[in-house]
Amino acid sequence: MPDQTHPSAAPVLPSATQVARDLELARDRTTWLTELDEAELFAQHSPIMSPLVWDLAHISQQEELWLIREGDATRPGMLPPDVDALYDAFTQPRAIRPSLPLLPPVEARRYGHEVRGRVLDALERADDVFPFAMVVQHEEQHDETMLATLQLRAGGPVLSPTRQLPPGRPVPRDSVLVPAGEFVLGVSALEEPTSLDNERPGHVVDVPAFRIGRVPVTNAEWLAFVEAGGYDRQELWSSRGWEHRHEAGLELPLGWRGDGTRVRFGVVEDVPPDEPVQHVSHFEAEAFARWAGARLPTEVEWEKACAWDPQAGRRRRWPWGSAAPSPELANLGGGALRPAPVGSLPAGASAYGVEQLVGDVWEWTSSGFEAWPGFSPMLYAQYSAPFFGGDYRVLRGGSWATAASTVRPSFRNWDHPFRRQIFTGVRLAWDA
Ligand SMILES: [Fe+2]
Repeated sequence: MPDQTHPSAAPVLPSATQVARDLELARDRTTWLTELDEAELFAQHSPIMSPLVWDLAHISQQEELWLIREGDATRPGMLPPDVDALYDAFTQPRAIRPSLPLLPPVEARRYGHEVRGRVLDALERADDVFPFAMVVQHEEQHDETMLATLQLRAGGPVLSPTRQLPPGRPVPRDSVLVPAGEFVLGVSALEEPTSLDNERPGHVVDVPAFRIGRVPVTNAEWLAFVEAGGYDRQELWSSRGWEHRHEAGLELPLGWRGDGTRVRFGVVEDVPPDEPVQHVSHFEAEAFARWAGARLPTEVEWEKACAWDPQAGRRRRWPWGSAAPSPELANLGGGALRPAPVGSLPAGASAYGVEQLVGDVWEWTSSGFEAWPGFSPMLYAQYSAPFFGGDYRVLRGGSWATAASTVRPSFRNWDHPFRRQIFTGVRLAWDA
């Protein structure tokens, strides 16, 4: 039965061919990110990140677990059990991963190649391609994590952009009004077959009127906050945020050097004023918003501004409509190695005229991570459920490092409010 709250939703089933192409795209990206010498791959570039060689084998271990062993870790696998166990993210915390007897890169790649061969055979016979699409998203999420790891790494330049970004345009730094009213929050499996459990089910919610920033907060705006003493004005910060700001010695976004330059993938460069700010924590985002006389959007407001078409009275698949993401619509996929300047993607605006919602930077919301009413866990039951109600804030929209196969207007990311190694930015909101 189609969901009654989705009158116009048409099923969009990903074909096995599409999923095979997405698996290949993900593997191309993993290969690009791990073309480094063995010492770089074994190094732990930050205590909060894994050595890249762990991600490399974990990607294939999970692919084998979900697509060959049907999620049953007690079933014999292709790796000896003691090696297989090294790649269980729940039992092997990041801090100890560098001390584990991990597979060398050449063996990890050989294992990955063998798993992929069997998976493509299984895909040809599969009735349900969802588990394959879930594994695509897992690999792409790790690719984004590996980009964050390489961003934290100390040392000379690494990675070169594979994609040029369009130039910015003068765009009003104003807000748009989203009038009060109902909309459909979340999606059904029927309309978004690759959506994950925490995005479902779609359900009607009533949202009071609010205003939301047309574009994300830029580096120039963040610099004005720094120069106005924003990091030293306790009244702008939550009590927890203020405590953290002192403990962690926060004075600038991660990667800024205090002289108008920043480090990005080992390159020192001027901070570009019109680029969305990235690498700020939720605590910093909150303080900035208070300084600006604004607040962070709730994730419900964010999703309405992104996906709702008030004229048609239904959701769009993407902010701009139904066309698949392209370089003129959204900065995704990682090849740019940076957010696009504000105003550079007018064709990607939502029905309300909000720009750059998908891609560029993950946008912090004020919302904790909770289940939608009617939640039921997917095949990978530990993906969302253990994290509901924890010390997390929801992030929306994906970043320049996120793959198009791995983000949607309904996609929900979550992280601790003190984290800023991921590609996080800020969009402001106001009560109407
Ligand atoms: Fe994982």
